[in-house]
Parts: sequence; structure tokens; C-alpha cells
Amino acid sequence: MEKVREPAAIAQDVLLGSLTKICQEQNDVEISMQFECNRKFSSVEQRLDQRSPIIKKFLLDLAKKYETPGRGVLDVACGPGNDSIYLVHGGFKVFSCDLSDGMVEEMRTCKQEFINNGCKEFENWSIFKANMIEIDAVIDSNKNLPPQYDTIVCLEAIMFLMGDQELKKLFSCFEKLLRPGGVIVVDHRNFEVMAKTGKPVNGGINPFTAVEYRHIAGVAPFAIYGPAPEQKPIAVFLAYERPDGSNLYTTSRVFTREQITSLAKSTFGENCKIQILHDLKDESECPPEGTAIITYVIEKPLE
Ligand SMILES: C[S@@+](CC[C@H](N)C(=O)[O-])C[C@H]1O[C@@H](n2cnc3c(N)ncnc32)[C@H](O)[C@@H]1O
Repeated sequence: MEKVREPAAIAQDVLLGSLTKICQEQNDVEISMQFECNRKFSSVEQRLDQRSPIIKKFLLDLAKKYETPGRGVLDVACGPGNDSIYLVHGGFKVFSCDLSDGMVEEMRTCKQEFINNGCKEFENWSIFKANMIEIDAVIDSNKNLPPQYDTIVCLEAIMFLMGDQELKKLFSCFEKLLRPGGVIVVDHRNFEVMAKTGKPVNGGINPFTAVEYRHIAGVAPFAIYGPAPEQKPIAVFLAYERPDGSNLYTTSRVFTREQITSLAKSTFGENCKIQILHDLKDESECPPEGTAIITYVIEKPLE
């Protein structure tokens, strides 16, 4: 009888595969992952309630503050649209995109359900498929989409971009698609702590409700470190726990606050306004080791 392999052994295989890729193409690694949405929602209320009141209030207030006529909110790599939905319900014109056919289909079904339930505001919800690093071209070629937006939201998504060039491309798309004076909200898990301690900080303001995983169950002893003498962490190994108790293994790039801040400045200029939040609180209220999610609020300078 075949011996059941330890999760750690499977983990190591997956990690080595990813590591080989990263090493082969230091600067531009393509990783693709097909997301599925098999969550079924039974009511409009349940659908509107996928996010904590804190993040809802945060994004609704931000969208309000930056709203100008004729533009709207662009939700990039939006998954099944958990943030888009309460923004649409809150009266904003929302444009939502994801690379996964499953996510796009889930949003279209959901839109129809809202409309059938008499929520007329959902008639104006725009949903389209796009790779986030090519989103400028997709928007350029679609006359129904405005060329610029007041607010761009990109949550729990940049970790899927494994190469520096991809991340740079994403920020240059943001720059093109954001109106002067507009704002971007982008976040990532606190990978620095994971790489250091081997343990994730779970929870935070935006837990993994978007896909069918409860939380990050564990990570690296398998973190990958760069060359000496700095030996900076490059990637961490993650295990997500599914509701049935099984795990999904994947790797993620390690982002640091310095890296994102410097990319924001090189994209939007040294004087762009950048606010860094720890679980949506001021850094002084939430120490790094207790922070699950780091959020950047970046304002594009007025021309
Ligand atoms: C963890 S989910 C986050 C979804 C949503 N933003 C949220 O916070 O609930 C990550 C999403 O990113 C999407 N994604 C991954 N790579 C992408 C890419 N290159 N372009 C667009 N979407 C991508 C996946 O399909 C998935 O729906």
C-alpha cells in the first residue's frame, strides 16, 4: 500500500518547484494559479456581510472622500467581489475585474441575484475579466470603461505577482488609471513577520473570506532567503486551511514596507502622500509582530 506522504514532504516539493523558478528567472517569474469560487451564498444580506464593519467603513469613507462626477471605484483582482458589493450598495459606481473566469462568473451571478431582489443599484455594476498587469490595455480597448478612476482598490492580490517587473508594471497601470488627486488602496499579508517567526499572524481586518480558505494554517521553516550577507527573505511557504480541514500549499513573495513605499515613490513621485496602516490602524497602535495585514493608502499628486 502506498505510504501517505507527510504534508511537510509535499510542501517541500512545492517549495522546491517554486524556488527553482525564482532562481531561474530572478526578476520576472510567472506564476499562475487558477482560483475557484465554490462558496454559495443564500441571501443578499449574507453576500453584503463578507467583510468586517471596519474595512467596510474604511473603504466607503475613502471612496466618498475621493469621489468626483463620472468616474468611480476600480476593484482590481477583486475575487468574488466582496468589497465591490458593499461599495455598489453604498451608491458608488464600481468597476470590478479578476483574472479568474470562476470569479467573474460568480460576480455576474451575484449581480443578477441582487437585481432580482430589487437592488436596482447593481444594474450599473461593471464586471470584466483582466490580468491586473495588463489592465490598462483592457480598459483602453473597452469604450464602456472610464479611462481614469477616483479610487483603485487592490486587496490581498499583489502577492500573486512574483517578479519585480510585474509589480512595477502593476503600479504603472495604477498611475495611468488613477485621476490626479485620486487614491489607491493596496495591501499584503505581514510576510516579514512570517519569514522571521515561521508563523503567520491570522485575523486582521480582512480575513480570507474571499476564497474557500479559513486562514493561513502555518508556514515556513521553509522561508527562502536571499544571498549573504543580507539574507533577506524572498519568499515564504504558506499552508491555507480549507473548511474541511485539508490544506492548500502555496508560496508567496515577501513584500516589505520599504519596498512598496519606494515603488510608490518611484511611480508617483517623491512627494506623493503614502499612509501605511497596520490592520487599518495607525502603526503606533498596532505593533508589526501583531499585525496581519499591512495596507498602503497612496494619493496621486495633483498635476
Ligand atoms: C485572495 S483573492 C483576493 C480577492 C479580493 N481582492 C479580496 O480581497 O477578497 C486573490 C484574487 O486575485 C486574483 N488574481 C491573481 N492573479 C491575478 C492577476 N494577475 N490578475 C488579476 N487577478 C488576479 C485571483 O483570481 C483571486 O481572485
